[in-house]
Amino acid sequence: MLVLACWVLVLLCGEGGFALRMRRFEVPLHVPRGESTTLRCEFDLQGERLYSVKWYKGGREFFRHVPNEQPKKQVYEVTGVNVDMEESTGQVVKLREVELATSGRYKCEVLAEAPAFNTLVEHAILTVVEIPQEKPIVQGARERYHPGDIVRINCTSAPSKPAATLTWYINDRVAPEQYLMRYLPYMDHEGLETTTLGLHFHATHDHFPRNVMSLRCTASIGFFYNKTEETALETHRPALSLQSREHFYDSLGAPRTVSSLGLTLLLLCVLHALR
Ligand SMILES: *[C@@H]1O[C@H](CO)[C@@H](O)[C@H](O)[C@H]1NC(C)=O
Ligand SMILES: *[C@@H]1O[C@H](CO)[C@@H](O)[C@H](O)[C@H]1NC(C)=O
Repeated sequence: MLVLACWVLVLLCGEGGFALRMRRFEVPLHVPRGESTTLRCEFDLQGERLYSVKWYKGGREFFRHVPNEQPKKQVYEVTGVNVDMEESTGQVVKLREVELATSGRYKCEVLAEAPAFNTLVEHAILTVVEIPQEKPIVQGARERYHPGDIVRINCTSAPSKPAATLTWYINDRVAPEQYLMRYLPYMDHEGLETTTLGLHFHATHDHFPRNVMSLRCTASIGFFYNKTEETALETHRPALSLQSREHFYDSLGAPRTVSSLGLTLLLLCVLHALR
């Protein structure tokens, strides 16, 4: 009877509540390229004995800690995973100088000893990011625009990983979708991406509050990068523009008047001479 009770207890423990428990599992979401990072798989054995802790990236084992074996720690070659053996233990794995290839799905698997052989498995995605080194570039912009002009400009991000998200603002309001031209990102040999977002619209008077139209492009990546490129384009007040156009016609008209007068005078002189 007592034996049976013990078995029931073991089974209960084995099934759930008291056995092996994850205390802290941490795989950073984003790591800037070139930095080191720490993966944590901190567990409570709750009275059980540890058999092994294994780490996998995309299904391939790269680190193992087995207390009862010699050596206790083993590192396996997996592309993009540089384990710092010295700094890694059963609960913490340190990766040195992460590369773009370090990105992937990381899994920690904890296995308890016989007889229960309980396991704990947790996984998470890690993404190595390359923060763009420069501001986005605005191309194709003219110095001045008037109501009625067509605005056709591009904003291009500096190379990054993942691709930056570009946003155009017209007078501090996000540009409507129908003004945008989306182009496919360009990927270089290192795997870094460059994106371009075009802005294409017919400028109207409404785009020039207080006679100024301001166009701004921002590039952002996750939480890391949020730099802003701003271009403020000024234009004449419509009334002024009309006035200057009148001046333009006047100045075109005046010389013609003068020259026709001159021609008339010349003709008069010729006629006078002929007499
Ligand atoms: C904007 O970029 C696209 C794609 O690179 C290009 O085809 C287009 O000519 C560019 N337009 C301007 C105004 O620079
Ligand atoms: C970027 O920064 C601007 C101003 O500093 C802020 O208004 C905006 O919300 C930020 N965007 C993101 C995606 O963090």
